[in-house]
Amino acid sequence: MFEIANNYNSNKKFFYETLFSQLKAMMEEEKNVIALTANISSLLWHSLPRINWVGFYFYDEKDDELVLGPFQGKPACTRIKPGKGVCGVAFEKGKTQRIDDVYAFSGHIVCDPESRAELVIPLFKKNKGWGVLDIDSPENNRFDQKDQEGLERFARYLEAYLFNQASNG
Ligand code: SME
Repeated sequence: MFEIANNYNSNKKFFYETLFSQLKAMMEEEKNVIALTANISSLLWHSLPRINWVGFYFYDEKDDELVLGPFQGKPACTRIKPGKGVCGVAFEKGKTQRIDDVYAFSGHIVCDPESRAELVIPLFKKNKGWGVLDIDSPENNRFDQKDQEGLERFARYLEAYLFNQASNG
């Protein structure tokens, strides 16, 4: 039903263009957050090579914690405090964390000991922290600037789509 981008290794820029179009097409007409983020996790999981986890954590204001959302990969920690681990730091600072070696990141939360590199992109709803998109890899230095930019562009599009925010996507 949905196409999967498979040109990652030949041309990363083109890969992210293709992935972005596929994500946009897949999201069409669906605004339910669980349905949407479940399918996004699946598309990212099947498109990005050399990853071992991809998914969402959403901020629960009442508990002041990030709570596990839709994902692909092994079962993961369900709750993360803002400021804790790579996810909590990305959320608290409102800044993407691209970590080449998670074992060198003080406070990293080990969900799967095989994870080596991690890319966490904070998500916002009307300028307030809403959650994070987290991607793990079993390879050190797995993510580069192009991965970060490609996925940040998509994150901005997702927020704009869900919350009617301005976006340049
Ligand atoms: N390693 C993350 C926890 C989430 S899992 O990797 C799915 C962290 O340090 O925040």
